[in-house]
Amino acid sequence: MDKLVELLIKRYPKKVLLDDKSEIMFRPLRKDDEKSLAEFFSNLPLKDRVCLKEDVADPKVIENWIVNLDYDSVLPIVAVAEGRIVGDATLHFSPIGWTKHQGEIRITTDINYRVKGLGTRLTVDIMDIAKELGLEQLSLEISPELQEAFLLCQKLGFKQEAVLKGFIVDLEGNETDLVLMVKHLNE
Ligand SMILES: CC(C)(COP(=O)(O)OP(=O)(O)OC[C@H]1O[C@@H](n2cnc3c(N)ncnc32)[C@H](O)[C@@H]1OP(=O)(O)O)[C@@H](O)C(=O)NCCC(=O)NCCS
Repeated sequence: MDKLVELLIKRYPKKVLLDDKSEIMFRPLRKDDEKSLAEFFSNLPLKDRVCLKEDVADPKVIENWIVNLDYDSVLPIVAVAEGRIVGDATLHFSPIGWTKHQGEIRITTDINYRVKGLGTRLTVDIMDIAKELGLEQLSLEISPELQEAFLLCQKLGFKQEAVLKGFIVDLEGNETDLVLMVKHLNE
């Protein structure tokens, strides 16, 4: 059996307790999650969405992710509570080329589930998978506006490695910097 499939079957579904003792389920995103995932992203505040890499409030973007779901290049782990998606973490990686030892992660949590440890647990979960897959470096690309994301990265040992000035033009047309946060998994 493919190593990744074997790993996913072994790990999920996985029950997780948040800081307030509420229970959440982690599992890989499935094809039948399209409606729930679209709802999750459309409920995000504009300030969180404007600086994300894709326009996640556009149902076509979500449809495209679902149609092209391929765990071997983008592995999405969702957090589910009471039948709803309340968190999403994705690991982007490629087994070939000079980035084969690297992965990029993206994390988002529902506004009503924040500051309860969900973002931390999702990030740690995806970091564990990355280690099991033999990846050595993880990156997170954020804009300085996403302060909570910066604090989360710092807490988990990511270091600011570069700032690309004016690299992002957000959904509202504003120019902003891109901050590259990197974690070396073998340290
Ligand atoms: C960043 C994000 C995922 C954090 O999710 P979360 O569920 O609140 O995460 P946690 O509860 O685990 O908090 C993680 C840490 O971030 C910091 N933090 C998060 N929200 C904070 C806040 N409102 N005030 C102060 N610190 C905060 C804290 O250091 C916290 O750790 P601590 O509670 O142990 O001190 C969430 O705010 C989010 O989805 N933001 C929008 C999308 C985004 O910026 N994604 C990252 C780019 S890919």
